[in-house]
Amino acid sequence: MTSDAAALMPWYDSLPGPATKRLVGLVEASWPEHGPYVERSFQGRSASELAMTEQLATLVERLHPGASAELIRGYRWMCEMVREEELEFRRSGRYRYSSFAEVNALVYQQRDCMADYMFGLLASSVLWANHTRSFVSYTERFLAQNTDRYRHLEVGPGHGLLLYMAAEDSRCASVTGLDISGESLAQTERALGRLGATKPARCLVGDIARPLDFTDRFDSVVLSEVCEHLEAPGAALANLRGVMAPGGRIFVNVPVNSPAIDHICLFRTPEEVVELVQSAGFEIEESSNAPATGYTEARARKFGAAISVCVIGRVGRG
Ligand SMILES: C[S@@+](CC[C@H](N)C(=O)[O-])C[C@H]1O[C@@H](n2cnc3c(N)ncnc32)[C@H](O)[C@@H]1O
Repeated sequence: MTSDAAALMPWYDSLPGPATKRLVGLVEASWPEHGPYVERSFQGRSASELAMTEQLATLVERLHPGASAELIRGYRWMCEMVREEELEFRRSGRYRYSSFAEVNALVYQQRDCMADYMFGLLASSVLWANHTRSFVSYTERFLAQNTDRYRHLEVGPGHGLLLYMAAEDSRCASVTGLDISGESLAQTERALGRLGATKPARCLVGDIARPLDFTDRFDSVVLSEVCEHLEAPGAALANLRGVMAPGGRIFVNVPVNSPAIDHICLFRTPEEVVELVQSAGFEIEESSNAPATGYTEARARKFGAAISVCVIGRVGRG
């Protein structure tokens, strides 16, 4: 497979490591038309993005040895779903759905759909430039700067990679995952088990659109690719702020101009995302923008293409 792939794709040898090469080779073998996209996605990745790429590909391989057929199928399903929603978005200027009830019935409560979606997100963590870069912001700018013995909560942990990275951080004291979808949470728990997470994670079904009922307080909260799924993300952020300790930090990752079947809240600029976090009462530590594969930030802004916006906020101590 490796020599076949190298012969077909001259850029294959520049991929950062064996796990990335195996995943790219398998995607290429089952979906060769996607090759040019993958090639573009690897152009211009920084050294830390390349290191993260291989780390993620290794984790994905541990979850799905041999990059199972269902992983590749889920990835293709997700890319084709996004392309279809992109056409609708370009035509109407809006996301197709706008209410939680619609996408809850259509996506979150559908076992097969959720499974395909999570497989797709796993593969895209390696293959979509903006997704890999967001992981770098998460580990280097967020987790690494948390205080010792931090108590960590992630809402919508899905595929479980972000939660696993927190669980494996020796400075993290406790790990909690919260999701409205029991199906999605079951996938998170399976992932943590397969990856051999050394810290137990408490996984709870819950809705951040409603006030949260926790007796403990969190120092570290993650909301990655969730705000665009909510009718009222500002209220959800305020609910989260209510369960955070003074000085606690939040990592919010929201893609702007990013149509998908279950995205109901449209953000058009990175500044709108920063404003959202600020308006919920957080002090802004920093924000960074990762444009979609094939775009610079300037071109993504000009053409209204997707940009993953990672904002780190902090609860004041006053
Ligand atoms: C696209 S996945 C995010 C996966 C992962 N965090 C990532 O960054 O790729 C969105 C998750 O948010 C969950 N979710 C959506 N609305 C929610 C709500 N109101 N409360 C809690 N979880 C919610 C969904 O069930 C799903 O698991």
